Amino acid sequence: MAKHTIVLIPGDGIGPEVTEATRQVLEAAGLSVDWVELPAGTRAIEQGFENVLPQRTLAAIQAHKVALKGPVTTPVAGGFTSVNVQLRKRLMLYAAVRPVRSLAGVKTRYENVDLVVIRENTEGLYSGIENEVTPGVVTSLKVATETACTRIARYAFRYATRQHRKRITVFHKANIMKMTDGLFLKCARRIYEEEYPNIEYNELIIDAACMKMVQDPTQFDIVLCENLYGDVVSDLCAALVGGLGVVPGANIGDDVAVFEAVHGSAPDIAGKGVANPLACIMSGVMMLNHLHEEAIAEKVRNAYNSLLAEGKSLTRDLGGTAGTREFTDAMIRRLK
Ligand code: NAI
Repeated sequence: MAKHTIVLIPGDGIGPEVTEATRQVLEAAGLSVDWVELPAGTRAIEQGFENVLPQRTLAAIQAHKVALKGPVTTPVAGGFTSVNVQLRKRLMLYAAVRPVRSLAGVKTRYENVDLVVIRENTEGLYSGIENEVTPGVVTSLKVATETACTRIARYAFRYATRQHRKRITVFHKANIMKMTDGLFLKCARRIYEEEYPNIEYNELIIDAACMKMVQDPTQFDIVLCENLYGDVVSDLCAALVGGLGVVPGANIGDDVAVFEAVHGSAPDIAGKGVANPLACIMSGVMMLNHLHEEAIAEKVRNAYNSLLAEGKSLTRDLGGTAGTREFTDAMIRRLK
C-alpha cells in the first residue's frame, strides 16, 4: 500500500481534540501515512511562528498537496484576517464541498436528506475589502469575477456528473445584487447550457430557498452558492441532519485539497473532551477517497454508521453521553 504524506493542522479550540481523534481512527483503519504537523491560527503565534498562517504551513501544503485541518478561531469585529479566508485564497482552494446526509441513529425532524452544498470559496463578500469612507460610514466590497464564477459552476456540474447526482440548484439574490449575483447566475447558466445540459438546473432566490430547505430538504440534490450564502446555508443544512458534529467538508483546488469539518473551534466546549470528532473523521473519509484509498474510506464509513445505528456511543450533541475519547475508542475497536 502506498504511504501518504499528509499535512496535519490541529487548529484552535476543539481542533486538536478532533484532529487527533481522526488521526487515530484513520491509522486504525489501516492508512499508511507520514503526518507533517504544522500550526495555523493562534496556536501558530503561541509556537513562535511569524503569523497566524505561517509560510512553513503553506509551503508544506503546497508540497504535499493534501492537508487535514482543524478549525481556527477568527476574532470578531477586528484583529487579524480569517486564517481560513487567507488559506483558501492563497492556495486557490476555490470549491468548498459539504455533503449533508441523514445518518441512521441520529434523530432529527427529517429523514433521507442527501444533498451537497458547493460553495465558491475565494471571493464574494469574503474578499475582505472594507473601507471607512468617513467616520460612521463603512463599506464592504462584494467581488464576483467571471473566472471564479465559471470555475465553481464547472466544478459543480463536473462533480454532479462524477457523483451521479441529477440536479443543481443555485441559491442567489440576483434580484437585488443584479451585477454580482447576476454574473454568478449567468456563468452557471452558460456552463449548464453549453457543457452539461443533461443535469437538471434551477435557481432560487436565497430567502425563499431557505424556507424550502427547512420545509423539505429532500427536494435538493446539489446546492451551488457564492461564498457568504454557502457559509450560512452549510450550517443551516447541518442542523437538518444532527448539527455541526456530523457535517464534513473539503476545500478543493486544481492542485491542492484541504479537508476540514464545517464547524468552528467551538470555544464553549474546547478542552472539555466532549466535542464530537465525527465531522472531522468524515472529512478524513473524504480525504481518503481523494487519495484513492476507497477501501479504507469504506471501512471507516461502515464503522461510524454501525456505531451510530447502535446508538450506544453517541456524543452529547447527538443526545448521548460519550466524550471525544469514548467515541474515538469505540470507533477504533470497531476497526480492529
Ligand atoms: P462553532 O461551529 O465553533 O460552534 C457553534 C456551536 O456548535 C457551538 O455551540 C459548539 O459547541 C457546537 N459545535 C461545533 N462543533 C462541534 C462538535 N464537533 N461537537 C459538538 N459541538 C460542536 O461556531 P462559532 O461558535 O460561531 O465559532 C467559533 C469560532 O470558530 C470563531 O472564531 C469562528 O470564526 C471559527 N470558525 C472556524 C471555522 C474553520 O476554521 N473552518 C469554521 C467556522 C467557524
